[in-house]
Amino acid sequence: MIIRYDKDLSKQCIFANGDELAQIMGHDRDNDGNRVYNYPDDKKEHVVTIDNPVLVTNNYRISNLEPSLRDTVFALFSRPVTTTEYDGTKLRFEQKKYTGAWGPSIDTLLFCRGLEHINLEDVTDAIELGCGSGFLSKYTLDNAPNLENMTLVDFNKYAILCAYDNINDPRAMFVTGDAVKYLTGKSYDLILCNPPYILRPKSIDDNAYEGLELLHYMITNADEHLNDGGKIITNISSISRDEVYKFIEDAGVEAREIDSMEVPLKVYNVLNNEEWMNYLLDRHHLKKERKDGYDYWQRIAITEINV
Ligand SMILES: C[S@@+](CC[C@H](N)C(=O)[O-])C[C@H]1O[C@@H](n2cnc3c(N)ncnc32)[C@H](O)[C@@H]1O
Repeated sequence: MIIRYDKDLSKQCIFANGDELAQIMGHDRDNDGNRVYNYPDDKKEHVVTIDNPVLVTNNYRISNLEPSLRDTVFALFSRPVTTTEYDGTKLRFEQKKYTGAWGPSIDTLLFCRGLEHINLEDVTDAIELGCGSGFLSKYTLDNAPNLENMTLVDFNKYAILCAYDNINDPRAMFVTGDAVKYLTGKSYDLILCNPPYILRPKSIDDNAYEGLELLHYMITNADEHLNDGGKIITNISSISRDEVYKFIEDAGVEAREIDSMEVPLKVYNVLNNEEWMNYLLDRHHLKKERKDGYDYWQRIAITEINV
């Protein structure tokens, strides 16, 4: 399946591609009636367009499609490989191969849209902390005209493998490990980080979505890790906005929102943990409101931080 987004994220276009054309879309005979099993990956057919997407996989919107279309789209979403396309940048993601890696999410795409408001011309050295699939770094490589070095760090080796498989660019360097440790003694023109942001009582910080360790370190040590005129671009969720703005205030750095979107919280491990959900609802800004098929909403804000 290919998921292609319009540049302003007003449309999510879903295509069947490659062998899906024979296996799902019914193109299993050629003009002479011979059985066709395989098609090249770049052969595709448009299946549906979803307007104003707020999630990459929006089961509610899909379930409201006409039955045969609905089931076709669910079948495509259950296929092992998804190619994400945004503004000319493409990335092939295979969850089974890249175990535990974070594929491009709506946050990732909003981040890319936000970069439009940033002058990337003066960036030569950049790093992405917690790169996941690598989509954001790939987008930056495609759009920063004077970029000479782009370092991608993640402690999930499969995330780094995914990024490595997708980015064939001599300017890119791939590092498996803890981003905080890696930063020691280094500075950059641009630090990108779409970090974990979900607080948890007695938080642990070792997975893709929870804990504020990265945000805290980056903001507190911005001065040390930014070159003159350098900037951090990050994602601040309403869920932990108060805590993160306290870090910003304490560090004496400046923050400017460059883009934002209201999106549902769709992290099953959090949603299915009553204690955790109560903690978020009581003490933070997770909103309970049933709309568009989802109960819990947050505002994510792509934010520029300067020292
Ligand atoms: C929310 S995901 C974002 C992935 C990617 N940047 C994107 O936007 O699609 C956060 C990523 O940060 C990684 N991560 C979190 N803390 C880290 C740390 N201290 N060092 C390295 N990677 C970290 C996780 O493994 C995960 O891949």
